[in-house]
Amino acid sequence: MAIIIDGKKIAAEVREELKSKIKWLKSLNIRVPGLVTIMVGDNPASQSYVTSKSKACSEIGMLSKVEILPVETSEQQLLEMIDLYNSNDDYHGILVQLPLPKHINENKVIERISPGKDVDGFHPISVGNLVIGKDTFYPCTPNGIVELIKRYKIETSGKHVVVVGRSNIVGKPIANMLLQKKEGANAVVTICHSATKNLSLYTKSADILIAAIGKANFITADMVKEGVAVIDVGINRVEDVSLPKGYKIVGDVDYENVSKKASFITPVPGGVGPMTIAMLLQNTFLAYIKITKQKLD
Ligand code: GUN
Repeated sequence: MAIIIDGKKIAAEVREELKSKIKWLKSLNIRVPGLVTIMVGDNPASQSYVTSKSKACSEIGMLSKVEILPVETSEQQLLEMIDLYNSNDDYHGILVQLPLPKHINENKVIERISPGKDVDGFHPISVGNLVIGKDTFYPCTPNGIVELIKRYKIETSGKHVVVVGRSNIVGKPIANMLLQKKEGANAVVTICHSATKNLSLYTKSADILIAAIGKANFITADMVKEGVAVIDVGINRVEDVSLPKGYKIVGDVDYENVSKKASFITPVPGGVGPMTIAMLLQNTFLAYIKITKQKLD
């Protein structure tokens, strides 16, 4: 049976570490880190993410602001708001919740965020730095995956990591992070996606399998080898009439059967999910340190 990777516990540890650092800053009566989250429109999933992010900030004593703009907000108005926060010293991290309404160009918005405040790690400068191995903000979900791998001491050097999914938010960045020639990485990485033929051929040779596909129970036990470490990034709703809400949340991996073959596995919920917000808080703290240091130089 696999060791279950407890993302909830590790995320709580990360939050506690940050909380005590912020408590120390407060005791010195100096500015604390701040995060602004900007959301356009009223997408319920986005609303719930934004609320969780803001709550998590407040819980550790970070300054937090949520800007909810009406769906008809123009691209120009959004860009102007970003400019205001780029030059506001109280906020060290700026997060624009995606997706944005269709009339707003997401790339243009991401590029407007000052790279020093890009706590999502989506700015092309952050992405470029990640690829060439320079210090940068790592996107929160991949960063959370690496943190789990490190804290559970799962060997990556020379191991075959198979990433299923090529999104800019998870697949591409996690592949590049684990490819770096450094401790906690140094893996042999394969990225598979919707056009991959004979997917099992790749997944069966994985020492570490990262599933970021967005399809419930997609990875089955016959697709993995004995002893694989499985990281499940999926968050899928499936109907379950026995539950009061009428649905349950499952990952991209058939947990019940794959866990019988795996050495490590992340559950859904409680695996990668809780790490994402913890890493956002960590990135905001990092942005605060960098900005504060620059001011002293
Ligand atoms: N929408 C879904 N996930 C994310 C995320 O990590 N960051 C932002 N900005 N939007 C998202």
